[in-house]
Amino acid sequence: MSEIAKIELDGKVYELPVIEGSENEKAIDISKLRELTGYITIDTGYKNTGATKSSITFLDGELGILHYRGYSIEQLAEKASFPEVAHLLIYGELPNQTELNDFESSIKKHTLVHEDMKQFFEAYPAQAHPMGVLSSMISSLATFYPESLDPNRSTEAKNLTVHRLLAKLPTLAAWAYKNSMRHKFMYPRNNYNYCENFLHMMFAMPTEDYHVDPIIVSALNKLLILHADHEQNCSTSTVRIVGSSQANLYSTVSAGISALWGPLHGGANQEVIEMLEQIHNDGGNVDKWVLKAKDKEDPFRLMGFGHRVYKNFDPRANIIKKACDDVLQKLGVNDPLLAIAKKLEKVALEDEYFKSRNLYPNVDFYSGIIYKAIGIPTEMFTVMFALGRLPGWIAQWKEMTENKEPIGRPRQVYIGKTSREYVPLSKR
Ligand code: CMC
Repeated sequence: MSEIAKIELDGKVYELPVIEGSENEKAIDISKLRELTGYITIDTGYKNTGATKSSITFLDGELGILHYRGYSIEQLAEKASFPEVAHLLIYGELPNQTELNDFESSIKKHTLVHEDMKQFFEAYPAQAHPMGVLSSMISSLATFYPESLDPNRSTEAKNLTVHRLLAKLPTLAAWAYKNSMRHKFMYPRNNYNYCENFLHMMFAMPTEDYHVDPIIVSALNKLLILHADHEQNCSTSTVRIVGSSQANLYSTVSAGISALWGPLHGGANQEVIEMLEQIHNDGGNVDKWVLKAKDKEDPFRLMGFGHRVYKNFDPRANIIKKACDDVLQKLGVNDPLLAIAKKLEKVALEDEYFKSRNLYPNVDFYSGIIYKAIGIPTEMFTVMFALGRLPGWIAQWKEMTENKEPIGRPRQVYIGKTSREYVPLSKR
C-alpha cells in the first residue's frame, strides 16, 4: 500500500500522497495542498522542494553518488567522450556507433556562426567578461533563427535548434576569448572532434596551426563530462523556469548562463584560482586564510568548499583531484597553487568548523588548476563550465517541454504593509 502523509491544520487532518522515485527518494506531493487547506509551504532557497520529477540525473549527497541516466560519473568520466555523454543526457541512451556518427556530423554542420555576429563582438570592450559576452551572443542566436521562437514546431525542427546550439556555443565561447585579446577569430575545423575543435578555435593563430595535444584533449573531455549535468541546481532550475514560459531555447540557455556566472555557482571556479593566487602572493600562510574563512565578521569564504547537496564528498571533486595530479605530471607543469590547494584542503578537512558543517572541496576546487595548466585564462573558467553544462541544460529543457510542465510560478507569504491610504506629496 502506498504511503500517505497526514497534516493537521486548524484541527482537521488532511491526507497527502507520498511519491517514491526509482532510487527510493520520497516526496510528499503537496500539489493539492492550497486547494484542500488554503495553506502553502515556504522553503526559501528551495532546500526541501522538489520542483519536478526527472529521469536525467540522480545524485545522493550523503553517499556522494552521481549518475547520468543510471551510469556512474566515475565510469563516464573514465571511458566516454563528451558527445556520447551529451547524447545520453539529451536523448536518454548512449549512442551506438551510427547514432554517434550522425549526431557528431549533424553538430559539425552548424559550427559556423553568421558573419554578422562578428560585428557584435567588435562592439564589446576588450576587457568585457566572456560570460557576459557569451550569454548575449547565445540570446542573439534567436534573432538569426526566428523559427526557434515557435514552441509548437516539429521534433525535427527542435532537434535542429539543439544541434545548432551544441555546435555554436564552443565557437562563440572561443571567439569571446579571442575578442578579449583583439586577436583574429579562428574558424571551426570540422576534421577535429568537439574538444579538439574548441582548443583549436581558442589557441590557433592564423599564421600557425595549433598542435592539439591528446593529453589536453583528454583532460578537457573529462572536465566537460564532469560538469555536464547536476539535476536541479540554480542555473538548471533557471533554464526550466524560463523555458516553462515557452521562451525559445537560445534565450532559455542564455538565462542559464547568467545564473551560472554568480560566484556561489559556476563563478566559483574563477574565484578559487584568484583565492589561491592571493594566498600564494600573501606568503602561502594557509592557516591565516582558514581562520579568515571561519570568522563570521569576515566576508571571506573558502571558495570551492561546501555544497548545497553534497554533505560527505563531491564525487566530481575526487575525480578532478586525481586528474589534476595526472595532467600536471604529464604536462610537466609544476604549479605552486596545487600545493597550496592540497594544504588548504588538508587543514580545512581536519578543522572542527569545516567538519561540523560538512564542508568539503567541491567540483570547482581543483578544476581551475587543470584549466590553468592547459592554458585556459582565468576569466574563461566559468565559460568552460557553461560549455560542459550545455547538454544538461538542453536535456532538462527538453524533458520539461516534453512532459508539458506548467509555467513555473511560485507563491509567497506577503509580510509587507497592510492596506493604507495614499498620502498626497505635500503631506508626506
Ligand atoms: N567557507 C566558509 N564557510 C562556509 C563555506 C565556505 N566555503 N560554505 C558554507 N560555509 C558555512 C556558512 O557560513 C554556514 O555557517 P553557519 O551555519 O555558521 O552560518 C554553513 O557553512 C552553511 O552554509 P550555507 O551558505 O548556509 O550553505 P548553502 O547550502 O546555502 O550554500 C554554497 C552552499 C556552495 C553556496 C556555499 O557552501 C558556498 O558559498 N561555497 C563557496 C562557493 C562555491 O564554492 N560554490 C560552488 C558550488 S559547486 C559548483 C556548482 O555546482 O555551482
